[in-house]
Amino acid sequence: MWLATAYPGKKLEKLNNQFIVGDSLDSFDWVMEFKEIFKINDGFDLVIGNPPYIRTQNLNRDTAERYKKNYEVASKGNFDIYNLFIELGSKIINPSGEVSFILPHKFFVVDSGEPLRNFLLKNKLIDKIFNLNQIQVFENATTYTCMIFLSKKNKNSFDYFSVESLENMDTPKKEKILFESLTTSKWEFGSLRTKNILDKVRINKLQLKDISPKIFQGIATSADSIFILEIQNEDTKYVWAKSKEHNKIIKIEKSITLPVLKGSEITSFILANARYCVIFPYIVDGDKYKPIPIEVMKSSFPETYKYLKSNYQKLLIRSKTDESNWWLYPYPKNITYYKKPKIILQVLSNQAQFGLDSKGHFCFVGGGTAGGNAILIDDLSHSETLLMVGILNSSLTTFYIKHTSSSFKGGYFSFGKSSISSLPIPEFSKINTELKDELLVIVKSLMKKNCKEAFQKLNNIVFKIYGLSKTESNDILKDIEVTAPVGKNKKKAA
Ligand SMILES: C[S@@+](CC[C@H](N)C(=O)[O-])C[C@H]1O[C@@H](n2cnc3c(N)ncnc32)[C@H](O)[C@@H]1O
Repeated sequence: MWLATAYPGKKLEKLNNQFIVGDSLDSFDWVMEFKEIFKINDGFDLVIGNPPYIRTQNLNRDTAERYKKNYEVASKGNFDIYNLFIELGSKIINPSGEVSFILPHKFFVVDSGEPLRNFLLKNKLIDKIFNLNQIQVFENATTYTCMIFLSKKNKNSFDYFSVESLENMDTPKKEKILFESLTTSKWEFGSLRTKNILDKVRINKLQLKDISPKIFQGIATSADSIFILEIQNEDTKYVWAKSKEHNKIIKIEKSITLPVLKGSEITSFILANARYCVIFPYIVDGDKYKPIPIEVMKSSFPETYKYLKSNYQKLLIRSKTDESNWWLYPYPKNITYYKKPKIILQVLSNQAQFGLDSKGHFCFVGGGTAGGNAILIDDLSHSETLLMVGILNSSLTTFYIKHTSSSFKGGYFSFGKSSISSLPIPEFSKINTELKDELLVIVKSLMKKNCKEAFQKLNNIVFKIYGLSKTESNDILKDIEVTAPVGKNKKKAA
């Protein structure tokens, strides 16, 4: 903009007196501060920027509450403050003004983006979106961004450009999107063919959350380097394991540990033996659990007690921790679920990877994008479980998540709870018996041995179950370019 004021032979302009520093969202009176602009020009001609990306959790509570009151786009869940800049920007431009921002594209799909999607649709504000997908444009930060251009001009559609790489920045795929074709639920851009497939696979289906109402995160100890240990050796009574915190091998009682899987150890179909174990200071009895009291820790698990006690200060500084719970987890969530039959998956993956833990043998690491999630399956019969494992690991699931969830660099997608909850799953009793039997046979064989041919067969059966044509099936396979499940033949878990 400053360059626009420069002419050959003319002294460069000073812009200092054109700037007003302030908090744009809060306590800043735009009309008062820019009297001329609003009086003569009816608002700004152009609002351009790279607004801050800050999630509500990182705002002070009073500020977040004030934002909620003053901005309609902040009305749901954990909004991000870039949402507010869109609302603000569009309110301070004049009738022919324009807003242009670079900001995260996450709001297309996350629940908390719904008020913003609603705001943009009802006011028909969007002129253009350049989705930069997983391309990284900032050197010092990992961000997944789009460029959005807004105006109050009258229109019924906007142009959506999908930029796949920096090289094709000038020739991105373009699509015309009618405002009336979008709703306030997730925005699924992409070709019409993709949209038709997504619509088709949803017809007459349940959603994963109807079949398994409990989809839960992995364990959170708030001190993984102390609680999670790398197994070296074990006998019936003890485990010898490497503590990252002490950088040495320690001995603890086996019965107070659970095998734990880290993100990349969560594989398709079956799960390998765990390399790590977690100290699990709880007693679980069905749907109830209680912490192991400190006296019992001392008397029945003296080695573990000694090890934890040697980390007393470090454990104590965790949030929500004091004298009464220093040897426990500060956020003991989902404690009763780990010992139940479940299907475990990676939160962030480049393809569907759902491993069956039919005996409730494994615990898994939770937290953010690096950990796992699990689907409780204690209400399903054995064959229903296998059908579910087959469908979930198929390329159709990868395709569905790719087009309905957030994408990350390196071709990864989020298999987070909100993404997988709405996966369309057929009612098992309504699946054609022949296809059901074929699927059961192939899943059993894939659980014994992962191979490309069997995986292709699995895909073909799943495509048939969802009523997809040959062309649609090929479109899916071409789109995701995945031909075989991840993971070699793994030793079956105990
Ligand atoms: C993503 S950075 C962009 C910085 C710079 N414009 C650029 O493009 O490199 C967002 C900027 O917004 C500023 N910021 C954060 N909250 C703000 C607020 N409420 N009002 C005005 N600026 C704010 C931050 O200090 C930060 O400099």
